[in-house]
Amino acid sequence: MTEVVMTKITSDLRPEVPIPTLQEAQQFDWSTATAKQRGIYGFDSRDVRSRPFNMLRSRLMKLHRNKGWRLFGIVSATPGVGKSFIATNLAAALSRTPGVDTTLLDLDLRRGSIASNFGIPVERGMRNFLEGTVPTLGELAVHPEGERLVILPTDNAPARSAELLSSPRMDAMVASMRARPTHSLFLCDLPPVFANDDAAIITTKLDAFIMIVEEGRTTRKQIQDALHVLDQAPCAGVVLNRFDGGLLADSYGYGYGAGYSDYYNK
Ligand SMILES: Nc1ncnc2c1ncn2[C@@H]1O[C@H](COP(=O)(O)OP(=O)(O)O)[C@@H](O)[C@H]1O
Ligand SMILES: [Mg+2]
Repeated sequence: MTEVVMTKITSDLRPEVPIPTLQEAQQFDWSTATAKQRGIYGFDSRDVRSRPFNMLRSRLMKLHRNKGWRLFGIVSATPGVGKSFIATNLAAALSRTPGVDTTLLDLDLRRGSIASNFGIPVERGMRNFLEGTVPTLGELAVHPEGERLVILPTDNAPARSAELLSSPRMDAMVASMRARPTHSLFLCDLPPVFANDDAAIITTKLDAFIMIVEEGRTTRKQIQDALHVLDQAPCAGVVLNRFDGGLLADSYGYGYGAGYSDYYNK
């Protein structure tokens, strides 16, 4: 009984956090050439290097249709396995899906790299928003010229990230994301699971997470332990990054690859 009343009070007190639309996001210079220079292939479905991201996009769209999932986190066990690279490219691919509004959020508050992936300076970001020094997300939102992708970046600074990610402000933001129309998808780049509590805290608030593993680098034990830490949230799939052999390698050449695998799916 008490619990029900408490819940109601909390939700009544939640401040409204407007989620910026594409029209509200500030545009920055962008071109196909810039995208390729920066290793962002997901915007161009004719580029063979976009193929793994298009496959992953199809998987997310299927989960979206079948389960109504819209808030996805990208995690890994350890840093440097290509989480932000894949978050960026997957967001690019999703943003080209007709009828879908895509927002890419950098919630790796201490080591954010989405802004640098796009080559944009970031003076204030998600960290400042969650700390309360930036009042609205609209002040942070940017979008690449000619693309339908909204980006909410963060800077690279020491942050009390676990505290910020479990704050009422974070909860209010998530509630507002859920209040957006059902064709709005959110992709959150998260810190590695073994860095701190952050990934475990946020994934409980999202619909599902995608785990990035690096072929030859992430061990089976690390994957199992990471899935165990994240067991409060559904796993939408596992991506094998830099997958040099097997089924998909022929189509990319270059030793490049982000092959998608269901193997570890729960
Ligand atoms: N499949 C890939 N092909 C080319 N470069 C990649 C690939 N995966 C990762 N990288 C590069 O490796 C570096 C580390 O990846 P990043 O996404 O920042 O890792 P994480 O976010 O997991 O710490 C970045 O410079 C990124 O661009
Ligand atoms: Mg990263």
